[in-house]
Amino acid sequence: MRIPRSVETASVEGKRILVRADLNVPLEGGQVADDTRIRASLPTLQYLLDRGATEVAVCSHLGRPKGPDPAYSMAPVEARLKELLPDERLIVLENTRFQPGETANDPAFAQELARGRDIFVNDAFASAHRAHASTVGVALILPAYAGFLLLAEIDHLGRLLGEVERPFVLVAGGAKVEDKVGVLRNLGSRADAVLVGGKMAVELASFSPLEGVELVLPMDAVAAARLAPDAEARVVPAGQAPPGWLELDIGPQTREAFASRIRQARTIFWNGPMGVFEWPRFAEGTRAVAQAVAEADAYSVVGGGDSVRAINELGLADQVSWVSTGGGASLEFLEGKELPALAVIP
Ligand code: 3PG
Repeated sequence: MRIPRSVETASVEGKRILVRADLNVPLEGGQVADDTRIRASLPTLQYLLDRGATEVAVCSHLGRPKGPDPAYSMAPVEARLKELLPDERLIVLENTRFQPGETANDPAFAQELARGRDIFVNDAFASAHRAHASTVGVALILPAYAGFLLLAEIDHLGRLLGEVERPFVLVAGGAKVEDKVGVLRNLGSRADAVLVGGKMAVELASFSPLEGVELVLPMDAVAAARLAPDAEARVVPAGQAPPGWLELDIGPQTREAFASRIRQARTIFWNGPMGVFEWPRFAEGTRAVAQAVAEADAYSVVGGGDSVRAINELGLADQVSWVSTGGGASLEFLEGKELPALAVIP
């Protein structure tokens, strides 16, 4: 695997630097609800400031606005970043997606970002699968380098693509099979067990088999009479919920079976919750998986917004080897695809 050149090889002193970070954080009531991605961007920014950069301009997208929209302004992100790293040389540019040229990878917008700046540092691993002006276009104009978070993600996720200690257990959940099928194919064929929960387990039962991948599907489920947090719930054999009922979590037998496979693993990748874990009645499956991943004496990587949220909420993040900041990007990376923003850094 090719490693893009590190920011440590750049001459930084006296330079005006454009940094692409992924500061696409959840907002609630106009405030940053989870600053994990902001914190993850700090080492590179601190490094550039310590090395005597004249100006460090950080850009990112936030949400998916279709043009300028105050609800997606970077102002709350800027406020949080400045609290964490107060330095007047640090500036935060407005949401890159306020400009139509961003997602179109329009060279004119890339030129605008590059204007007056000497080098470009990409630290936005979570956006590396997007060929946009701020991830790809600008790297074709300014000398481009990889930031520390970007390199750490490549290092940690890359380990899963190489020789791994066995047993290697892949745990996949969440709603959409289409999003995960590439990873199930690429990593699943090399894993010793692929445990599947969440809504995709139901969908996968009717999916054409993935060659060389042996799936371990749930044997029981927690079914709900309707889609509501306080719905009547009961344990049923998987796939046998009464008509009109929905399977919203894996059942106790599956929890035990999955947890025991996970605890014996030496390498683990977990992406996607086992059920509707935002609702306590249907959170036990995800909780059991998170706990087993944390307890395992293994090289463990958690990726994807919901499973990362679950591991954070359970206070277990420091017991896993790597919590990826990438959702779609980490999946595409593990599918073995070349990410466009990495390909343009020498
Ligand atoms: C993410 O949250 O996965 C990244 O920030 C990418 O966001 P996007 O899917 O809107 O491009």
